[in-house]
Amino acid sequence: MAKEGNYTGPAKWLHWGMALIWLAAWVIGIVATHWRDEFNAHHELTFLHKAMASTLLFLIVARIAWRLSHPAPALPDSMSPMMKRGAYVGHLLLYAVALIGLPLSGWYWSSVADKPIMVAALFALPPLVDPDQSLYDLAKAIHTYTAWLCGALIGGHVLVALKHHFVEKDEVLKGMLPGRGN
Ligand code: HEM
Ligand code: HEM
Repeated sequence: MAKEGNYTGPAKWLHWGMALIWLAAWVIGIVATHWRDEFNAHHELTFLHKAMASTLLFLIVARIAWRLSHPAPALPDSMSPMMKRGAYVGHLLLYAVALIGLPLSGWYWSSVADKPIMVAALFALPPLVDPDQSLYDLAKAIHTYTAWLCGALIGGHVLVALKHHFVEKDEVLKGMLPGRGN
């Protein structure tokens, strides 16, 4: 049983593990695309990007199952009902867009392009749809724009977490940090 105001141990492991994979995949995706000649001449970064990011599709199943059976700790009373609602909607968006929609859009893009995805470099993900070159540009635009939108979402998420800790001086960030009575 987690201490009051604290996320459970598995929720923390899933949050920080997936955050690390997500942030690394985001940076690698940008370097792979925009510094192709310098760092991605043989698609090695594209392979790494897809191998890492595709694991999120499996981890998210465990995370949602855990979250549904283990509610998040209550937010501090110092937050107005509107701020609490904002936090709820923000987290819902992170789940739906950053952790589900974005990997799905990458899977869709690789499927229409007829390119393999090796999950954690271990096994191939089956195609989501049949290959169709006429959808390539659309799929690429969806993944790229969603990725940049998510960069902004995550940036906001991190700033809000830091504001809780350093400005409001409440327990919100501490409740997600390791080693606090879980
Ligand atoms: C199944 C999962 C995913 C697949 C198959 C996939 C696939 C791809 C591919 C093929 C590229 C182009 C790389 C290149 O041109 O060499 C790309 C770019 C990119 N991906 Fe993903 N992706 C996935 C998940 C993600 C996730 C979870 C993120 C965010 C963490 C992400 C962020 C990006 C970014 C930022 C770019 C560069 C966009 C640009 O500025 O052009 N992708 N992805
Ligand atoms: C340095 C980076 C990060 C920090 C400091 C951080 C901090 C936090 C904190 C303090 C909470 C719980 C408190 C709250 O806001 O209610 C939280 C929840 C959450 N974070 Fe992060 N986070 C980071 C990165 C990420 C990333 C990269 C993602 C996803 C791609 C993410 C997704 C989420 C989600 C979905 C929740 C809601 C958890 C739930 O209640 O089910 N976070 N984060």
